[in-house]
Amino acid sequence: MRFGINTLDDIDVTGKTVLCRIDINQPINWETGGLKDTTRIKACVPTLKELSDKGARLVLLAHQGSDIEYKNFHTTLPHSKVLSELLGREVKFIDDVCGPAAREAIKILKDGEILLLDNVRYVAEEQTLFELNLHLTHEQQAKTLLVQKLAPLADLYVCDAFAAAHRDQPSLCGFEQVLPSAMGRLFEEEFCVISGVMENPERPCVFVLGGAKINDAFLMMSTALNGGIADKILAGGLVAHVMLWANGDEIGEASRQFIKRQGYDTLLGTAQELLSEYRSKIMLPMDLGYVKDGKREECELGGAPEGELVVDIGSKTAQTFGDTIRAAKVVFVNGPMGVFEKEESGLGTQTIWDALDQANAYTVIGGGDSITATHKYGTKVSYVCTGGGSLIRFLTGEELPVVKALRYGSLLEKQG
Ligand code: 3PG
Repeated sequence: MRFGINTLDDIDVTGKTVLCRIDINQPINWETGGLKDTTRIKACVPTLKELSDKGARLVLLAHQGSDIEYKNFHTTLPHSKVLSELLGREVKFIDDVCGPAAREAIKILKDGEILLLDNVRYVAEEQTLFELNLHLTHEQQAKTLLVQKLAPLADLYVCDAFAAAHRDQPSLCGFEQVLPSAMGRLFEEEFCVISGVMENPERPCVFVLGGAKINDAFLMMSTALNGGIADKILAGGLVAHVMLWANGDEIGEASRQFIKRQGYDTLLGTAQELLSEYRSKIMLPMDLGYVKDGKREECELGGAPEGELVVDIGSKTAQTFGDTIRAAKVVFVNGPMGVFEKEESGLGTQTIWDALDQANAYTVIGGGDSITATHKYGTKVSYVCTGGGSLIRFLTGEELPVVKALRYGSLLEKQG
């Protein structure tokens, strides 16, 4: 047991049906239906291999995409194929989550066999919007459809989804109420490494926040600043757009309209509050990048031509951010600086990632897109955490919902 949670060393899984929640949420290639990156899938292989080798009848639960908010749901079928290849053994797939077909498939599993269920967020109670609006307690989560239908078929619950440890959803926090539980090897490793970095963080500690998961980014910014963890915040991506707007800087009508259409203008108030309290700690872009006729162009704040969407930070900003990173002792990165998938809007992200590569600091990268960028630019970093939102919430020192649930489920095993 570590941190009050059972590890795989504390449970006997042979011949047992084990429900294992993993986080294999990956960027999807919408044209081919395949996966753009497989880092998170690779990261949970040791746990799955160990459980299967020990003779568990392994049932995998996972989400893909967020929810209505991000409109990026996808089946987990492609993930089962990648897992089969990585594990060198068949990972069966069933296009059902907890209905009769899924339950039948679970019942006929043999020792060592692995079954991946379809995207758990196809069940409404697993969606983040449901979580945020209803705030079910863990006890209530144990009474949801998912837990009621699957728990009776299982002997044990294992959570290896550190990347989703900040989510308070039944597949993550409900099963521990009724099944003896443990964390997987990846969960254990990430918990250990991140706690270690935070025990005595060297200064300056810099946070690079960008990307499109803007609600998460704002929560991260608030917690990192209010908790006194961050000495500097470097804002890029859509986070920077909202911050610049809140700061009274001109980002152009097209970008403002885009933010409004996404509903992110609701964050302007929070952005203003953060700016008024922590202005000296928040670094905003001083120039911007946009694409015109397929070519990269740059402008000062306020200089984006009408109708042009800002898609990157400018090169002066990238240089200044890079210098700040090179002078840091600890750097946490969550989210790219722009649309780095395209060559003409990748300069900002690439410059920042190059600075990470050169930095004489402990660098931690978290979150799906950041990991993809790390691979794309061949960046050397100290630690790649599969979590984005979970990593930052972990840093606040608050007990994460899944950690709390696992602690409860670990005691259940002792009593059982
Ligand atoms: C992530 O991508 O950070 C995790 O998979 C959690 O996903 P979520 O933010 O959609 O809950």
